[in-house]
Amino acid sequence: MSIVNARVTFRSSPVHVLEKFTFKDLESAYESFRTYADLDEFVILQTCNRVEVFAFVKNQSMDKIKKTWASLSGLEESAFGQNFEISESVEVYEHLLKLTSGLDSMVLGEEQILGQIKESIATARKLKTSGGHINTLFDDAIRIGTRVRNSTGISKGTISVGSMAVKLAEENIDELKSKKILLIGTGEAATLVAKSLIKRGYGFFVTSRTMQRAQAFSETVGGKPVGFEEIMEGFSNYDLLFVATVAPYFLVTYDRIKEALKNKKTGMMILDLSNPRTVDEKVATIHGIKMMNLDQIAEMVDKNLRYRTAQRTNAQKIISEETQVIEAHMKRLEVEPVVKEIFKDIDSRRVRELRKALAMLGEKDQQKIKIIEDLTVAVVEGIISEPMNNLRRASEQSDDDLLKAATKLFDYRKK
Ligand SMILES: NC(=O)c1ccc[n+]([C@@H]2O[C@H](COP(=O)([O-])OP(=O)(O)OC[C@H]3O[C@@H](n4cnc5c(N)ncnc54)[C@H](OP(=O)(O)O)[C@@H]3O)[C@@H](O)[C@H]2O)c1
Repeated sequence: MSIVNARVTFRSSPVHVLEKFTFKDLESAYESFRTYADLDEFVILQTCNRVEVFAFVKNQSMDKIKKTWASLSGLEESAFGQNFEISESVEVYEHLLKLTSGLDSMVLGEEQILGQIKESIATARKLKTSGGHINTLFDDAIRIGTRVRNSTGISKGTISVGSMAVKLAEENIDELKSKKILLIGTGEAATLVAKSLIKRGYGFFVTSRTMQRAQAFSETVGGKPVGFEEIMEGFSNYDLLFVATVAPYFLVTYDRIKEALKNKKTGMMILDLSNPRTVDEKVATIHGIKMMNLDQIAEMVDKNLRYRTAQRTNAQKIISEETQVIEAHMKRLEVEPVVKEIFKDIDSRRVRELRKALAMLGEKDQQKIKIIEDLTVAVVEGIISEPMNNLRRASEQSDDDLLKAATKLFDYRKK
């Protein structure tokens, strides 16, 4: 019996290849694995960077996992080749801990994966495909992953330019929710800013040289589209500007901002994410303007990234220690049915003999019966508890000889 993991991830497969291995309909994937792959317990983890199956199996079922996966994705089994990675037992525990801790993510320490793992195990529980082994493993891994993140700070600090720009705005502007925010640009960098604004619940306007682009951006990403000309005529309506374009000249000039501030009671913050800059540096000298450019934003992102990278060793150390704890925990689960069965067997003998003795004695006094019964329980527990605890410990320490001897002594396999 063992825990196995089969996976296709961004580490071995580029996104366009990874896509081919994803399950289009997760529920029917669960149903197929349940029916055809001969898995005792399992859970599917699917994100944009990975598709993984974790399973508890009595027999090595990797071929069946692959066959089921191939039929679900419409691929030939030969397509799995280099893309397919397989782990077993301790390797799986360590891999899962790296996942929950964010060590195996594209962006070191990112937090999304922990939520995705929680969702996956919740789905498996709901569909009743996981059981004692997989649930215990995932609960342990989620708890340890959270501890790794908290004690090392590997997830601390913003590391996306877009989120950092929004964070800086939050730090510099009071009551940002009530302010008017404008995003100039509809490309990749603008999308990063927009996503962060949306995530934090800020409404904003978006503009592009063509209204069509601004509208398309608004529909796919978010924000309220506003005409470019209208913006260029005056910035006085806005309190915060994010500028992310590849314009080969200054879009936001000294004169425009100077003019805007004349008609404005409060100041303005401008974050220029463009490189080369599209906001004239001289704008920063205008009274009431707080300005930050890409170099300053990127420097903070770098600082956070350096911090996270420095924490990798500490995180790995905790993971290595905790992998052994999980291993012991999982091994103990393996022996638990043996222990339970032995206890049950011995107890049924005790009850049988007790009844016989009571019948022979013809005892009716409930107090005396209780004393005799307690005596039998105490004798049985006194004899059996210590060897059973030793059996559990032997299991944790992989003492297979003792396990074999115990199951033979108690005739466990016959049951
Ligand atoms: N991509 C990133 O992850 C990232 C990160 C940090 C910084 N940056 C910087 O951010 C800037 C934008 O990069 P990007 O990746 O978002 O580029 P992009 O995806 O190519 O988008 C470029 C944007 O610039 C606008 N634009 C182009 N020429 C313009 C002009 N003459 N006047 C006004 N707007 C113009 C385009 O909109 P229309 O053509 O519709 O007007 C579009 O919205 C670059 O300077 C880049 O160095 C990018």
